[in-house]
Amino acid sequence: MLGTDTPTVVALCGSRRDASKTKVVLRAALSTARDRGADTRLVDLDAYDLPPFDADATDAGDATTLRRHVADADAVLLGTPNYHGSYSGVLKNALDYLGREEFGGKTVGLVEVAGGRFPGSALAHLRTVARTLNAWTLPVEVAVPSSHSTVRADEIVDDGVAERVADLGTDVVDYARLDDHPPCRPASTAGD
Ligand SMILES: Cc1cc2nc3c(=O)[nH]c(=O)nc-3n(C[C@H](O)[C@H](O)[C@H](O)COP(=O)(O)O)c2cc1C
Repeated sequence: MLGTDTPTVVALCGSRRDASKTKVVLRAALSTARDRGADTRLVDLDAYDLPPFDADATDAGDATTLRRHVADADAVLLGTPNYHGSYSGVLKNALDYLGREEFGGKTVGLVEVAGGRFPGSALAHLRTVARTLNAWTLPVEVAVPSSHSTVRADEIVDDGVAERVADLGTDVVDYARLDDHPPCRPASTAGD
């Protein structure tokens, strides 16, 4: 069953660097998503005031704005640099301000950008988080290796990586348009 014609796709970037390759990859995926008919937003966490998460102060800083952006999305891309074989603390901190309220039942696409040649572990960790939040992760995931040579300042220069990112940008829109997933089980039976 088709849902909204113009889904909103929001991308969260787990690198705060101005010259972040993760941002380049997410922008490319969002560009494809726009061509496919989506409204898009890149959430650059460097621009958000999000103090280290304190469960006693869940509305600190820009948390409410972040939650609204993600809640308004029909689908979410989570993009992270590979830091020590996992996803970044910046992204983890942002995710801790969010929860099933924002992610439940949503389509989530995953992107990992690594300096090394064999990425993928951060994707596995993010997949676990997304499923814990009752989101549906897309089978097409992007693990970008050797970021120093596959991604330049403002473009992906490896054809295989570019194709994979375009596939993700396409799929995230197509799946965001499906709006009649069966309801998710309540948290008490979701394995937590
Ligand atoms: C603290 C830190 C840890 C890193 N650990 C790894 C790692 O374990 N494996 C890897 O392949 N690259 C690692 N890198 C390299 C980054 O994944 C790579 O530079 C990536 O492009 C950074 O993303 P960005 O350009 O979006 O900031 C690390 C970089 C930093 C700063």
